[in-house]
Amino acid sequence: MTQAPEIRSSSSFEPGASAGSAAADPATKAQLFDYRQAANPVRHGLTEPIPYHQWGPDLHSSGPSRVIPLDLSQELGTAGPSTSPALAAHFLRIEAGEGLPASANATSSLFFVLEGRGLCRRRAEGPSPAVSLSWQAGDLFVLPAGGAALLEAETSSVLYWVHDGPLLHHLGATASEPRFQATHYAGTWLRQELEALAADPSSANSNRLSLLLANRDLPASRTVTHTLWAMFGMVPAGAVQAPHRHQSVALDLIVDCDPGCHTLVGTELDADGAIRNPTRIDWQAGGAFVTPPGHWHAHVNASGRKALLLPIQDAGLHTYLRSLDIRFAG
Ligand SMILES: [Fe+2]
Repeated sequence: MTQAPEIRSSSSFEPGASAGSAAADPATKAQLFDYRQAANPVRHGLTEPIPYHQWGPDLHSSGPSRVIPLDLSQELGTAGPSTSPALAAHFLRIEAGEGLPASANATSSLFFVLEGRGLCRRRAEGPSPAVSLSWQAGDLFVLPAGGAALLEAETSSVLYWVHDGPLLHHLGATASEPRFQATHYAGTWLRQELEALAADPSSANSNRLSLLLANRDLPASRTVTHTLWAMFGMVPAGAVQAPHRHQSVALDLIVDCDPGCHTLVGTELDADGAIRNPTRIDWQAGGAFVTPPGHWHAHVNASGRKALLLPIQDAGLHTYLRSLDIRFAG
């Protein structure tokens, strides 16, 4: 029989003498901080804030089959590749006739096909049934917890892959129970529905034309998985969106755009409801960028052609926690 470790305590404590130092029990790991030193540990040197960052399509436009992590783990101080504290985004480049495994300890994996066509296969494992689906450019599919997926390209392909493995790593948990069925959203259907939305008379004055991807297994959250949120959106030529913000992080993929499309992002609004001293992130088709949680952001299309974007967020999880806190300027 294994003996439980002894929980020790000590009567000779080390005082927290000055600002920034903790009182400590030298016999254990226990510490005590003055509330004022620890009430908001999201700051440089402690829990690192999520930075602005973007990645261009040059990362995946050529070269051999490979997984390309969009890794900010150094900046975030997290272990293992991660793009935000809970999510990891990647580009996958797969040459024609080749296969690439996509494996992660994750409850949710989302794939969007930027180029090419092929097959996704996964063997049955425990409670997770086998998966076999065809994909082509413009399609999106999600896989629940399960074994490694093999992506086989019939033509040279590029996919965007986001999963919640970093969240599982932080929790020290292994994803074992599928919480939704593997689900495929055909690109032709997504574009058809988006065009129908754009053509609806009620959209005439809207600068936000977007479809939220949902799943009948998840009626309460109306999200693409129970942790991930995905939106397929159009920003019409000339559109200037009013700013909004939310506590979920956004890992934005630009599906299609011409030069001039950009996002303005910043932490505060001015008296007119515009973003004060915004950072400008210029879009690149096939590129991706991070919108940190809580930052005001507005998409602008100063080109002469509509643009398409696919933000992926951890908003399924935030919706469950009731912490999304989405707000719109004005
Ligand atoms: Fe947003």
